[in-house]
Amino acid sequence: MPSRPILILLALLPVTAPGQVQSVLHPKGEDAALIAEISWILFIGGGLIFFVVILLAGIALFAPQPRREWLSHRSLIIGGGIAFPVVVLSALLVYTFSSDTVAGKREPAAIRIEVTGELWWWRVRYLDAAGKVLLESANEIHLPVGKSAEVLLKSTEVIHSFWVPNLAGKLDLIPGRVNRLRLQADAPGSFRGQCAEYCGAQHAKMALYVIAEEPPAFEAWLAAQMRPAATPRDDLQHLGQRLFLDNRCGQCHTVRGTAAAGKLGPDLTHVGSRASLAAGTLPNNPGTIAGWITGSQQIKPGSRMPSFNQFSGHELRGLAAYLASLQ
Ligand code: CUA
Repeated sequence: MPSRPILILLALLPVTAPGQVQSVLHPKGEDAALIAEISWILFIGGGLIFFVVILLAGIALFAPQPRREWLSHRSLIIGGGIAFPVVVLSALLVYTFSSDTVAGKREPAAIRIEVTGELWWWRVRYLDAAGKVLLESANEIHLPVGKSAEVLLKSTEVIHSFWVPNLAGKLDLIPGRVNRLRLQADAPGSFRGQCAEYCGAQHAKMALYVIAEEPPAFEAWLAAQMRPAATPRDDLQHLGQRLFLDNRCGQCHTVRGTAAAGKLGPDLTHVGSRASLAAGTLPNNPGTIAGWITGSQQIKPGSRMPSFNQFSGHELRGLAAYLASLQ
């Protein structure tokens, strides 16, 4: 039995600030708000009906004889046992269907984003109106506040599920088909999403961040992401870039503006600007970048990034400084 302080802490979880970045109880988008509203109506309605049923069970067990007889009246059995469930369930059915049609009637999306589930990270591509790729990134989606994005969900090998609870419901990414999800944030903020369908050993370490910002900040971000990578500015960063290219990191990773053009792993052109490393597994800073390069198989066993443990401390600092500078 957990101690009382632990129980109190658990009860407070949904209302604490850190919990709000990944919470169905704190909707920050139209679809999430609709889901939360339906959920609250079902929770409260279910709770009230449960309370009445327990009350009737208490009467049946402990009340004096005349009261118990009242419970066996034919009208109460037909009314409470047949008519009430039929009326309540039909009303709920109509209500949830009508909510669904509200979600279906909407103006065209302002932006289109293609999200592909990989083992175990998210490939993110921003598309123009004609479907041409504007830029590729990974594990992070930026949205302008108040504008809706159409997210095209794809997968290459296994089924994943895209779920950012603050913004929308979850939807699967299925190999061989494209699922479409509307994503809209009504307030600025950083929201955590998580793969919600078991997809292999590192399913739990397959998270992403959705960063909602005011439209001018979003436009600035988009313009910066479309530019080629920054060039090294000091000796340490030069050393890092040379090691990155000499060790054939570019066979898997792209850094636009350099010879690195691999497509297997995440695009690193602006990796330094992202909030996390390895799909939400680590915060992103030079220390964690160095740790990830040498210990990827200890941090995320089975991931397709091999551990590169041949570098000296100085070389690792160079690699980390170079990658962190790719803002
Ligand atoms: Cu991807 Cu679970």
